Amino acid sequence: MNQATAISLEQHAYSAEATAFLARKPQLFIGNQWVDSSHGKTVVVEDPSSARTIGQIVDASAADIDRAVAAAREAFDDGRWSGMAPNKRERIINKLADLIEANAAELAELEAIDNGKPRSMALAGDIPMAVGHLRYMAGWSGKVGGEVMSPYTMPAGAVFNYTVKEPVGVCAQIVPWNFPLMMACQKLAPALAAGCTLVLKPAEQTSLTTLRLADLVAEAGFPAGVINIVTGLGETAGDYLVKHPDVDKVAFTGSTEIGKLIQRNATETLKHVTLELGGKSPVIVMPDADPAKVGRSAAGAIFVNSGQVCIAGSRLYAHRSIFDAVIEGMAEAAAATWIPRPSLDPKARMGPLVSREQFDRVTGYIEAGRKAGASVAFGGDAPTADGHYVNPTVLVDVHPDMSVVREEIFGPVVVAQRFDDIDDVARSANDTCFGLGASIWTNDLNTMHKLAARIKSGTVWGNCHAMLDSALPFGGYKQSGIGRELGREGIEAYLQTKTVIVKL
Ligand code: NAI
Ligand code: MG
Repeated sequence: MNQATAISLEQHAYSAEATAFLARKPQLFIGNQWVDSSHGKTVVVEDPSSARTIGQIVDASAADIDRAVAAAREAFDDGRWSGMAPNKRERIINKLADLIEANAAELAELEAIDNGKPRSMALAGDIPMAVGHLRYMAGWSGKVGGEVMSPYTMPAGAVFNYTVKEPVGVCAQIVPWNFPLMMACQKLAPALAAGCTLVLKPAEQTSLTTLRLADLVAEAGFPAGVINIVTGLGETAGDYLVKHPDVDKVAFTGSTEIGKLIQRNATETLKHVTLELGGKSPVIVMPDADPAKVGRSAAGAIFVNSGQVCIAGSRLYAHRSIFDAVIEGMAEAAAATWIPRPSLDPKARMGPLVSREQFDRVTGYIEAGRKAGASVAFGGDAPTADGHYVNPTVLVDVHPDMSVVREEIFGPVVVAQRFDDIDDVARSANDTCFGLGASIWTNDLNTMHKLAARIKSGTVWGNCHAMLDSALPFGGYKQSGIGRELGREGIEAYLQTKTVIVKL
């Protein structure tokens, strides 16, 4: 990683627009208005590319959350949104998508400043995906409905019986810091299309783009109280929101640990719960694959977004015959493409980690792997800088029991292992408590589909990794989650079925 020393890790200057946004007074967005918190507590906003403090957001109090939930409750109960004609709802959701698109440059810069991801990546990936999720789900607004059914125990004509789909109600939506605006829109879109109202809490590390989104919500023409945005710490504001008796559904993306806690906390009032949690997704390279090409793709599968991706390809299994060549391909790609740079550097493909906490966690895992006997094929270190940069890392000589193989590292670190045959790799790939994604790299269709059938995960990719689409359901097997987002199942998670039986 000699190149790393030649690269300046000084963050670039912010635009006047971003600087003005950062100077705003910290407030919450409730009932279509910017409001002060009931107390003066704030959370510091940091630029992970420089580790400098750049602003403050509100750390919402219980009273603030009560106020936001009350606004969402009122907006749901009086039907100002669910009772609106679906074509009007569709138009307003699409208007929000248009406004995001019109403000894409500013949003991408704010995302880069707040999260550390390259601005170019936010502009080419996060923002268009956010827009796509809104547009796709907007289209469902008028396309979900019930059916007329014939009963089983009653003769024809004895009853008239039909089902209707109704929104589940007030939703608490809790979003992580790795794809802040994209995840916020992934959550908002189906809830809105279904006719729900919501309180959304972005992660305390990355709330800026969601706050900027609130301006656009007001401009798009949503009735007051449909979308409320509160910021603050997970263990206080998030916890209170999840337990709130006036919330009907919780949708969460984040760690498996907090997902389990949220599931327990939502039990008291039997809220609907969907969870999108951690992963340890295998990348399986069969012997017929082109090792240089797959090496490049495998590097992308783990190093994009600095490995802070729930579906990161964090376990590589390459057939013994091509293992060394695949690692070589990854090393070349890492040196050419994935050297960390500040998020506003136009050449950046990989930025820093989001926080010092994540830096300590990731470097701690690398150290634990080394102590347990793993070798570093490349990387394994961090450039000297104030920001939270970690070099792209491949660990080899690992054992299935090591923490680096079993646990989600959530950084640019992959553990690479050899395998001998399809049974061997199917067993290893499934030897995990997670089941979010997996990719298989082969030109042999028979092997592709046989192995796809044996992998226990919510998504299996063939000759690609982490490809997502608004229309395709996404979610986890095992401890990677409950329920599906995106696609038809994504909106169904915000609907409930009412059966009407009328005796004739
Ligand atoms: P986290 O799961 O604690 O945080 C995610 C979101 O949940 C944030 O908005 C946070 O404010 C909120 N939250 C935290 N505690 C809560 C609680 N008790 N009640 C309600 N909401 C709560 O994740 P964290 O601590 O930021 O990262 C730790 C690890 O979690 C990472 O190293 C990574 O392994 C995993 N993670 C996975 C993500 C994914 O996309 N699957 C995203 C973020 C983190
Ligand atoms: Mg946490």
